[in-house]
Amino acid sequence: MKLRALFGTIAGTRGDASLQCCRIGPCAMSLPLVLQTPRLLLRDLLAGDADALNVIEGDAEVTRYMSCDPQTPEQTREYIAGAILEQAKADRKTFDLAIVLREGVSGADGVDERGGGELIGRCGLGIQRPEHREATIWYLLHPQRQGRGYITEAASAMLDFAFGTMGVHRVFADCDPRNTASCRVASRLGMRLEGQLRENYSLKGEWCSSNIYGILESEWAMRKGP
Ligand SMILES: CC(C)(COP(=O)(O)OP(=O)(O)OC[C@H]1O[C@@H](n2cnc3c(N)ncnc32)[C@H](O)[C@@H]1OP(=O)(O)O)[C@@H](O)C(=O)NCCC(=O)NCCS
Repeated sequence: MKLRALFGTIAGTRGDASLQCCRIGPCAMSLPLVLQTPRLLLRDLLAGDADALNVIEGDAEVTRYMSCDPQTPEQTREYIAGAILEQAKADRKTFDLAIVLREGVSGADGVDERGGGELIGRCGLGIQRPEHREATIWYLLHPQRQGRGYITEAASAMLDFAFGTMGVHRVFADCDPRNTASCRVASRLGMRLEGQLRENYSLKGEWCSSNIYGILESEWAMRKGP
């Protein structure tokens, strides 16, 4: 996935399985948004995340198939500042969440004043065409935390949030076909390869294609069972 939306706008809510409101369309939201999984918390980005996030986004291997270059510390700080501004918007359409380990974290929702445990990545949902209830998903993970299923777990919570809380009908992911790890995550989530857009992006001096993976609310409900 080239993570087209990664460095776009961001936005916010408080969230878990019992999250209220936040269906597509304007609504009052409370902050921060927090989603829980067995091993992880997904929560709104905080200003204090900049250093940890930049370790990940500043790595050229991580951004290899993304639509951006490795981020400087200043770029990461600016990105988070934009995210924080968006979080409070009543018509929030972007939910770009820090992924932190729950291990060793206590307190309500597992979020202490520092925002929880070690930040290991980011997972986002962007509602791009609200009138069609369609959203895109993206994710990235610290290289040393890969290969343990963390992103599959995080993105699964994000799909629950998309279909269950936000009332989305279709979620898609745009993966560079050479980004096999990202394509495998999409498949593992039950997203179907719907097609390939050939050389539709000129990035980093080369033509890049897009594998489009999609999943519908009915398919996600089927996977989750009754
Ligand atoms: C894409 C990316 C997030 C995938 O990371 P990942 O570690 O492969 O994904 P997961 O955390 O879900 O881990 C899945 C792997 O862990 C293994 N695994 C171990 N324990 C597991 C568990 N409990 N549950 C699921 N998988 C587990 C899986 O077998 C799988 O390995 P495989 O693909 O070799 O079979 C990562 O490669 C990355 O950050 N890349 C750079 C950024 C990027 O390109 N992002 C995509 C653009 S949006």
